[in-house]
Amino acid sequence: MQVIEAKGFKLPLVGLGTWTLQGRDCTRLVEQAIRVGYRHIDTAQMYNNERAVGEGVRASGRRNEVVVVTKVQPTLLAPHDLERSVKESLVSLRLDVIDLLLIHWPNPRVPLAETLGAMAKMKREGYTRAVGVSNFTVALLDEAVRVSPEPLVCNQVECHPYLDQDKVIAACRKHGMAMVAYSPIARGQARGDELLSRIGAAHKKTAAQVCLRWLVQQGIAVVPRTSKILRLEENLAIFDFELSDAEMKEIAGLARPGGRIVDWTYSPKWD
Ligand SMILES: NC(=O)c1ccc[n+]([C@@H]2O[C@H](COP(=O)([O-])OP(=O)(O)OC[C@H]3O[C@@H](n4cnc5c(N)ncnc54)[C@H](OP(=O)(O)O)[C@@H]3O)[C@@H](O)[C@H]2O)c1
Repeated sequence: MQVIEAKGFKLPLVGLGTWTLQGRDCTRLVEQAIRVGYRHIDTAQMYNNERAVGEGVRASGRRNEVVVVTKVQPTLLAPHDLERSVKESLVSLRLDVIDLLLIHWPNPRVPLAETLGAMAKMKREGYTRAVGVSNFTVALLDEAVRVSPEPLVCNQVECHPYLDQDKVIAACRKHGMAMVAYSPIARGQARGDELLSRIGAAHKKTAAQVCLRWLVQQGIAVVPRTSKILRLEENLAIFDFELSDAEMKEIAGLARPGGRIVDWTYSPKWD
């Protein structure tokens, strides 16, 4: 599995997204994903599946080879809440350490420096090996880098061909951070796309594979989710072909206003 290296941390380019996966099905998928070669599993406190994810990781027998990412809920970003919730995450996961801990969404009610101070403390005290952020705009990213006591490894944001994320990609590069694409196949929309299917046919690949390849070929990590064992391998088989410059450009042309799936201004009830 190819990795992207940021701030000395190695993040496998393809991870398994686990949002909506629950219980035994989730455990089975995580275990099977690791069996077929995944080395990066993406969960979050909000997904309510850390227990099932942890079980799958342990059942794989390859815990030490896998990067487990979890995210702190935006309502728990005050230092005391954050520290308590991270300890709870570890209990749920039943792992000794989280590999990469992210702020799930910024919360304007809690000063960023305080949250990042608490994240750094979690790292220093051995609860997580690395820290990063998710859903951070360019401006927030600049601020986070300025005030974080520990290096920030990544920014995980919505990214797929229907959404122009060039500015945030450039900001990640500027700060030496990994860009991680969530909803990388646009929640399945890529599947029926005419252009992606046509390019896929030329490479004997599916539209979803072309979509994922377009991202990893730009050095962007991806965390596609599937509930189907068969698709685990499909979403991983994207390292044996290359898109031409013309194909890369054509796919970038799919970006359109309103292409965003997850509302960037989404604000959970902060109280
Ligand atoms: N940080 C954040 O705020 C944030 C927000 C959203 C998501 N995420 C993370 O990113 C992960 C992925 O994003 P997502 O779940 O929103 O969407 P996604 O991975 O873009 O799409 C998932 C959908 O695509 C389908 N699919 C998967 N592989 C396919 C293939 N090869 N061909 C055709 N269809 C395929 C799945 O259906 P089947 O199950 O039927 O295969 C599912 O309906 C999440 O699970 C989560 O871990 C993070």
